[in-house]
Amino acid sequence: MSVHKEVKRVTTHTLQEWKEAGIKISMLTAYDFSMAKLIDAGGIDVILVGDSASNVMAGHETTLPITLDQMIYHASSVVRAVNRALVVVDLPFGNYQGNSRLALESAIRIMKEAGAHAVKLEGGAEIRESVERILTAGIPVMGHLGLTPQSIYKFGTYTVRAKEEAEATKLLEDAILLEKSGCFALVLEKIPATLAEKVAKKVSIPVVGIGAGGGVDGQVLVSHDMLGITTEFKPRFLRRYLNLSDEIQNAVKQYVDDVKSHNFPGKDEQY
Ligand code: KIV
Repeated sequence: MSVHKEVKRVTTHTLQEWKEAGIKISMLTAYDFSMAKLIDAGGIDVILVGDSASNVMAGHETTLPITLDQMIYHASSVVRAVNRALVVVDLPFGNYQGNSRLALESAIRIMKEAGAHAVKLEGGAEIRESVERILTAGIPVMGHLGLTPQSIYKFGTYTVRAKEEAEATKLLEDAILLEKSGCFALVLEKIPATLAEKVAKKVSIPVVGIGAGGGVDGQVLVSHDMLGITTEFKPRFLRRYLNLSDEIQNAVKQYVDDVKSHNFPGKDEQY
């Protein structure tokens, strides 16, 4: 594990080396400066500025409404906080599907204006042209297969994907295609663990899972879920490491009580 600690700055090459050495990759989301600073200091390898910001930060039901300008705002705040982690940023819905020129322009804006290190796109064969065009600019691309929340209205539900053979076969083909196209890594979301392990063994690039079991090269979670800030979202794959929702509400209640009861500020808390 010393190889892991010694790394001053995680790059796409580091992740590839870790896959080959069997060192697991840790990844969490962040959308703002303060949280990104804490997560980076905690030793995370990859920070994803996910379009889940649309749900977590803005309160939308889906990831579809978030805009490129909003993603750039979140990403630039994260990049300013980070010393060690690789920062990957989601291309938002509508900025790459069916339009590889727009995909390239959007990816360039994310790299230039936010200072990100890589971008992530959802989908396989359907978005190949966009992936390949972005790669021509020297921008690293992470793929995302399985449950792809930007396609929620096609799926209809957030249940496990690729349980049927036809969808599993397409997913494996897409993973191989994304590797051949030049993606440096893949995210697999909410698919059977056996399929995820098969994909991770088949492709030579790192595969990071969320709800995809332990047979892959790394794990990603939404930080607000694993810290227990969000409470309604309770999928089987989620492990909560803290219950910040209760902690924060208790602190707020205590503060309200202190203000109302003239207990705050005290004599040594004023000028
Ligand atoms: O937007 C996001 O948070 C994601 C993760 C769930 C992988 O894409």
